[in-house]
Amino acid sequence: MIRQFLPSLPRASRVLGASAIALFVFICFVGRRHIQELPREVIEQHVIKQAGGVYRIPKGTAPSVNLVVAAMSKEDYSWVKELKVPGMTVIPYIADNTSAPHHAVKNKGHEAMLYHQYFYDFYDNLPDISILVHSQARSWHVESLLDQSMIFSLDHLDLREVQRRQFLNLRVTWGFGCTTGSINTTKVNEESGVIPEQKEMQEAFRANFNLYAIPEILATPCCSQIAVTKERILSNPKEQYQHHINWLLETPLNDGLSGRTWEHMWQYLFLGKAIDCPIEHKAYCRLYHICFGGREEYDEWIELMQGAQTLKDELRKVADLQEKRKKEEEKANVKDSKDDKEKEKEKEDFKPPSEATLKAEKELKKRLEEELRIVNEASRVRKEIAVVRGGVEINRVAEGEGLYGDEQEPSAEKVLLKGGTSTSSTKALSTSK
Ligand SMILES: *[C@@H]1O[C@H](CO)[C@@H](O)[C@H](O)[C@H]1NC(C)=O
Ligand SMILES: *[C@@H]1O[C@H](CO)[C@@H](O)[C@H](O)[C@H]1NC(C)=O
Repeated sequence: MIRQFLPSLPRASRVLGASAIALFVFICFVGRRHIQELPREVIEQHVIKQAGGVYRIPKGTAPSVNLVVAAMSKEDYSWVKELKVPGMTVIPYIADNTSAPHHAVKNKGHEAMLYHQYFYDFYDNLPDISILVHSQARSWHVESLLDQSMIFSLDHLDLREVQRRQFLNLRVTWGFGCTTGSINTTKVNEESGVIPEQKEMQEAFRANFNLYAIPEILATPCCSQIAVTKERILSNPKEQYQHHINWLLETPLNDGLSGRTWEHMWQYLFLGKAIDCPIEHKAYCRLYHICFGGREEYDEWIELMQGAQTLKDELRKVADLQEKRKKEEEKANVKDSKDDKEKEKEKEDFKPPSEATLKAEKELKKRLEEELRIVNEASRVRKEIAVVRGGVEINRVAEGEGLYGDEQEPSAEKVLLKGGTSTSSTKALSTSK
């Protein structure tokens, strides 16, 4: 990777610089002029084009929002005070304290138990949108494009997009849950190291949804941080949430496993879809207003990130080597109570590196650091441009079209079901509704 990647860097950064300037000019002048020419009613609305037609969602007053924070009593979620989401009420749900105002009946099933308890408790008193998250301000569950920060993510979240899609996962990338980490429910006898819950999914799905015909593939971005509208919550009868709570209480599966099975079922509960994987760059653009301009440009950004990672790994190796040598040097020079014979032997084993080796190493380190600086700068500039581009509605409309894929970009169904011949992603008749 590093060898293919590096030689093109200086050129890439020059091209990038030029295209960055061109883009700023485009966004600031052409984009703005275009918007000024649009009728006022359109500017006051969010315009979403889809295969089925053009949707306009009035901007109007902001929707009401509950932020449900699933926490243990020892966890600190005070970061929520920094959020700037208008009209938001924070509702902490505590897993392990039945004296807390909002709590689980039993500390079991991780966040899934708390989320279902919230849906049940607030069923008759829901805001327009409920956002359900973990208590951590930063974690790998949050995308690096979003700085792995819940504050950044929630402050940038487009609530109108939540209203339009009705249910969505705050995570966008396919890496865990959509491609790798998707569930094949027929694999009930196979241990699968990274997804230990896979072999339990068929039974869990059957028990929770009271279904005989179970979708073969379940796919949605990982990590159970979700946003859902009042309409979608109310589309299930209140007793259904109690049913899910009971399942979590009664299942013999261990705590972690039962919680993890729900990571693959929210999209089915609220959308009736087994597979819910919007195209990454389109989802970023519509949901967080970070618009790279298209698949190619997004892929280039990913490549820069991977390049940076490779360079960091190489630098790490150099640092490890230097560290190891330093230790050996110290050991050889140490004046301690060891007998002379042993000391002599250690001294013999230690061969100081030649001047040439040291020089080459120093140069390599310098080169890697310089390359890393260039790559980091290039990806920083690209992200900044993407944020500026995402600030303009017309750009979001253009890039966000065909959210679930089109001729150019295959849908997750196509990828996962090998050509999309199976119809197993559509909802089978649910007896619980
Ligand atoms: C449990 O919740 C109650 C009510 O909020 C609180 O007074 C108590 O300190 C909590 N206990 C623990 C262990 O956090
Ligand atoms: C699911 O797993 C079964 C059994 O291993 C396999 O035959 C089938 O092709 C898999 N389905 C998909 C869509 O990969």
